Parts: sequence; C-alpha cells; structure tokens
Amino acid sequence: MHTQYVVGVTAVLEIEGLRKTYRSRRKGARRALDGFDMVVEAGQVHGFLGPNGSGKTTTLRTLLGLIRPNGGRMAILGEEVPARLSSVAGRVGAIVESPQFFPHFSAQDTLSLLADAGEVPQARVAEVLELVGLRDRAKERVKTYSLGMKQRLAVASALLKNPQLLILDEPANGLDPGGIREMRDLMRQLSASGMTVVLSSHILGEVQQICDSVTIISLGRRVASGPVAEVLAQHSGGGVVVRLESAGDLSSAAQVLVAAGARVDLKPDHLLVTGVDKPAWVTRTLAGRELYVSELAPVTVDLESVFLELTGTAPVAGQHRQVDQSVEVPA
Ligand SMILES: Nc1ncnc2c1ncn2[C@@H]1O[C@H](COP(=O)(O)OP(=O)(O)O)[C@@H](O)[C@H]1O
Ligand SMILES: [Mg+2]
Repeated sequence: MHTQYVVGVTAVLEIEGLRKTYRSRRKGARRALDGFDMVVEAGQVHGFLGPNGSGKTTTLRTLLGLIRPNGGRMAILGEEVPARLSSVAGRVGAIVESPQFFPHFSAQDTLSLLADAGEVPQARVAEVLELVGLRDRAKERVKTYSLGMKQRLAVASALLKNPQLLILDEPANGLDPGGIREMRDLMRQLSASGMTVVLSSHILGEVQQICDSVTIISLGRRVASGPVAEVLAQHSGGGVVVRLESAGDLSSAAQVLVAAGARVDLKPDHLLVTGVDKPAWVTRTLAGRELYVSELAPVTVDLESVFLELTGTAPVAGQHRQVDQSVEVPA
C-alpha cells in the first residue's frame, strides 16, 4: 500500500488496463481500448499521441465519465473515477472534441453564461478571453468565428475554473501555424503557473516541442511513455555512425568490430554500429588494428520517427494505409 500512496501524491492522472469495446447492431463490436495504461505526473505538459482511431478520444471521454468502460481503473487527482468524479470535477477543465456553442451568442456571452453556471466570478471571463487571444473579438457572434477562434473559445471555457488539470483533445485542430504557436505558448504559461496539461494530438509536430512527457497509443494500447528524452533514448537503439580516414578500410573494420562482438551494417561510406556500450570502444578496438576513425556520431532519432515506427504508420511506398486500424472482435 505504501508505494501506491507515493504514486498518489504525484500522479494527477492514472489509468490502468482500460478496456472499451463499442457495440452496434449494424457494425458489430469494435475494440477501441485494449488494456490501456497512462500516468501523468503533476506540473507536466503531457502529450497524448496516436494516429487517427487509436483510442485517444475514447480514453478522454471515459475519463470524464461520458462513456462507460468495459474494464480497468482510472483516477484523477488521486480520486477514483467515475465513482468520485463529482469530487474532482471542479478542479478539472476539459474539452473533448469541438464543443458546440450557441451561434448567436458572442464569446463574451457564452463565457459569462458558463461562469454563472459554474459559480465562477465574472471577472474571470475577461481574464480567459485575454489569455486565449480573443479579447478584441469577444463581442462578436460565435457564428462569425473561424474554426481556430472557436477552438480558442473552447480553451477559454475550459480555463474558467482555473483548473488544476486541463485536458484538451486535439486543441491544435483547425489552428493556423501562428495559432498553434500561441496555443503552445499558452500551455507553457499555464504549466509554469502550476497547472498540469494533457494534450492529445495525432500530429506530433504540433505538441512535440512543449511536452515534458508523452504517452503514445496505438490500437488502444500504450506503446511508449515517459519523459520525451527517455522515450527517444529507448528507441534510438544506441547506434553510432563510424567513418574511417580511408573508406577502403570499411569492410576490414566491419570484420574487426563483428569479431569483437558488435553488430555492424556496412554502408558505402560509413558503418552503422549497434550493440556497443560506449562509442569510445569502437575507436579503441579499431585503433588496435591500425584502423583510424575520422568520425564517430551517435545516430539521432526524433520523436516523429519513433512515433511512426511504434504506431506502424510510417508510409510504405506503393501502399495506402487504411485509417481504421482498430481490431474487429466477434459480437
Ligand atoms: N461511438 C462509437 N461507436 C463505434 N465505434 C467508435 C465510436 N467512437 C469511436 N469508435 C471507434 O473506436 C476507435 C477509436 O476511436 P477514437 O477514440 O475516436 O480515436 P482517436 O481519438 O485516437 O482518433 C476507432 O476505430 C473509432 O472508429
Ligand atoms: Mg479523437
């Protein structure tokens, strides 16, 4: 029990073994979540990443009590949900899928109404309008707004309660590049003020720069998680690119390294060496045979490559990947 208590102190969000199968008479059963796990620590900006149809929205809707799961457990701010959702609801702001607003209301009226309903002081309305950059258009009707402006209004509504945990499903949808950058700056600012932010996205580039940690989901299961640097390190394979002073020596160098226990890929102008603890070992081993290294560089991976690899969504020449990757299960 002790360890569980320690986890409870820092984890703002915990999901364990979550399962959800959608059933419809016409289309049969579709497994959207298949034992999904996720942990978000306090004070982080956490990226919830996965391709279309991988189960992100289902997870968030389940977490907020909008869908009933078929199994697993969840806790928000240390409270089990959905059982104790009412005791944490006031400390969680969320937008899941684009919320609908009354088209004839202005942003100002919309937020004012929501503030009253949520017992939030009216002064907060101007604050959130300023934060999301809608101040100057706040008196215009929502029906005259662009998609990006509606998205900003949605974020403003989620911020009204000044929540401890902010959950945004695909917040960058419909935003222009400037808007995406502003959104990122805002998330950073909120996080610096102590708020924990969970952002889902199917487009890695939108959120990669601002996330402290990520959960990557594919086919309703977690395929990677942790601080961005750790996820990268785990999937870079620790490879090093080795070039020699004389390219003619590459194949003998490859033989030497293989004989010494490394895995080596012989390329036209370099070696790709893996299975090596320390790159210096390569230099030493080769120098011992009078082969001199001119360049030794760790293989760098970016989060996008890891994402594509783990989710099986890397493009394959001549193939058209189908969007619905979910597992069909017998009804
Ligand atoms: N109401 C529903 N009825 C049936 N299937 C659904 C429903 N909502 C989502 N799904 C299916 O569940 C899978 C996961 O969807 P979703 O959670 O929306 O993924 P994401 O948000 O990652 O794009 C998809 O295959 C989707 O078609
Ligand atoms: Mg979604």
